[in-house]
Amino acid sequence: KDIRCVGSKDYSAIEGADLVINTAGVPRKARPDGTFPSREELLTINLKATNEVAAGITKYCPDATIISIANPLDAIVYTLDKRLNPPKNKLIGMAGQLDSGRYCSFVAEAANVSMENVSALVLGGHGDTMVPVRSSCLIAGIPVSKFIDDATLEAIETRTRKAGGEVVGLLGFGSAYVSPAWAALEMAEAIIYDKRKILPVCAKLEGEYGLKGMFVGVPAILGKNGMEQVIELDLTDAEKEAFKKSSGAVRKTCDEVDEMLKNL
Ligand code: 2OP
Repeated sequence: KDIRCVGSKDYSAIEGADLVINTAGVPRKARPDGTFPSREELLTINLKATNEVAAGITKYCPDATIISIANPLDAIVYTLDKRLNPPKNKLIGMAGQLDSGRYCSFVAEAANVSMENVSALVLGGHGDTMVPVRSSCLIAGIPVSKFIDDATLEAIETRTRKAGGEVVGLLGFGSAYVSPAWAALEMAEAIIYDKRKILPVCAKLEGEYGLKGMFVGVPAILGKNGMEQVIELDLTDAEKEAFKKSSGAVRKTCDEVDEMLKNL
């Protein structure tokens, strides 16, 4: 069947949709002095937009599966959950796939091998504390440490954590949009074609990784029911510590969301 593309400013355009990809919100944008806001600093403005998105979904497609991309990623997914209260398989955020793509690309470059050989996961919140998981980074199934020394890996992990900002700094008029679109598309295809594909997604945790009621980046199986299952990894002690720090940062932003939602 051919694709039908409809542009609209009215939420009625999503009537009966099976899948919604939410991008509503202002992006990070470089200030005249060259600095740029953190994803968290977008919270006030984007929370209002999210409120409207939630109302539109409630009215026109309350049963849709939702992939949210707007920043601050984890807090906006959390807000949609608060407003819509969907089953946990039907609401996920896109960040890990984008961050992992960047990580894989830097690893492939340093090892001087095809990016197609690299598989890796970036977990935790989609902020500067995100966790590139070295213990799950493989090149053609071989641990990455066989190819790249520790110092270089550390530099790659730091660059990965700040790569969104790197793009904002270079672009000058907003944040990355092509790579987030591809990453969200990969998630949508896994759901639409019931691939049961394991991808890092921002999912609601109910005890996994020792967290309850929070949305954080974890590996999960995506299939026809949306987020079918969270996969719990055996992280190293250092990775566990980094994951804890990252989820703590997400918790802090979500606490702010709770306060702000009272007045919206
Ligand atoms: C990124 O990482 C803007 O959060 C988005 O590029």
